[in-house]
Amino acid sequence: MHGERFGRMGFILASAGSAIGLGNIWKFPYMTGENGGGAFVVIYLLTITFIGLSLFLAEVVMGRLSRSDAVSAFEVLAPSHANLWKYSGFMIFTGMLILAFYTIVIGWIFKYIYISTFALPSSVKEAGASFGGMVTTETIPQIFFFTLAFALTFWIVSKGVKKGIEKVNVILMPLLIIILLVLFAYAMSLDGFSKAVTFLFSPDFSKVQSTSILAAVGHAFFTLSLGMGTIMAYAASMPKHENIVKASFMVAFLDTAVALTAGIVIFTFIFHFGAEPSQGPGLVFISLPPLFYQLGLMGNIISVLFFTALAFAGITSAVSIVEPTVMYMTNRFKMSRKKALITLGSIVYVFGILALMSNIETLKGYATFFGKGFFDILDFTSSSILLPLGGMVIAIFVGFVIDRTRLYGLLKPFMNDMLFKLWYFSIKYITPIGVFIVMVNKLFF
Ligand code: PHE
Repeated sequence: MHGERFGRMGFILASAGSAIGLGNIWKFPYMTGENGGGAFVVIYLLTITFIGLSLFLAEVVMGRLSRSDAVSAFEVLAPSHANLWKYSGFMIFTGMLILAFYTIVIGWIFKYIYISTFALPSSVKEAGASFGGMVTTETIPQIFFFTLAFALTFWIVSKGVKKGIEKVNVILMPLLIIILLVLFAYAMSLDGFSKAVTFLFSPDFSKVQSTSILAAVGHAFFTLSLGMGTIMAYAASMPKHENIVKASFMVAFLDTAVALTAGIVIFTFIFHFGAEPSQGPGLVFISLPPLFYQLGLMGNIISVLFFTALAFAGITSAVSIVEPTVMYMTNRFKMSRKKALITLGSIVYVFGILALMSNIETLKGYATFFGKGFFDILDFTSSSILLPLGGMVIAIFVGFVIDRTRLYGLLKPFMNDMLFKLWYFSIKYITPIGVFIVMVNKLFF
């Protein structure tokens, strides 16, 4: 049903490109900072191992067995009631919501590459005012940078799985890793390094609250791109003989390694200059630029490198958010890739402009619904409702609906019986129950 396949390493690179995104470099550090450091990291690592990895493999299994988009995968793989299970494919719409605000943030990052070169703020206060000012007053520049990020993303996807997505990942992912390693090497020479390592790796469980546990579980999901058919869509394009278990481990490992490296680099700077680790979402935009400023020209260079790495990470993830929906539209409605992208792109663009307007003081009124700004509505609906719901449905479907022997047949060449049993238990019970608890807590408490 689905034609184009990745080349060797293409799946691993593209999935790693999807997983490694703003979630790793922007979100993980600020969440760690807000949740007290080491203990949060331990919980995050445990969640990735016991819930994230199982679900990742479950999505790969569904993509690999069905070789199709998320809606058809449920239909094809359900032994009965296919017409009901297909509604689980609602998850292919989640991407439109995520993409609208994700590309706005990539737009901010583009602007910060420019700021890094010419206009680094000299104090945290100035940086706060400039970041806040950009988000709440600068309509035209924000639209410009958003449009740039949006156009770049759709242009890459329009080139197809191999020539577009794979190629971009083959180039950008190694570059991102190199930039991070350069930054890491530099960080090692600073005084803040050992403090950063202690902060991240010596857990103090007295600082952990139940909200930190919930945040870690939710983030494990977002960071591995789970719950919206992205990994399923990429797995549908996997070459036949690829070792799917090894590939899944590899992606989870790379994703975690990048988050931890980014965390060490960022906290080294924070501690080196005596700044506050718990700054919230502004951490990379507000607290890093003034720190870079103090380093003179070297700071400009590091800052450009840092925001470029962040932009690369964002673009490869944005591309992966588009693909499942495009795959669905071309499969289902026999649309050309171009037509699918134009249809989808128009919706995302309108959502994006509305989301952007909802942050602008003078335009807020036009983009606020039920008392909430559109940007927040998109973020909340996707991260707190749709992604966890998608993940839960996938876990239940793979754990209870797909025949066990079929799963065993596919996975047996790549894992021993013990590991298979562990995975099966996790996907049947630990994952759906874990995700359910997180969702209920996030929504009602
Ligand atoms: N995993 C990406 C990140 O960490 C975000 C993402 C979510 C990408 C869902 C695809 C699907 O930034």
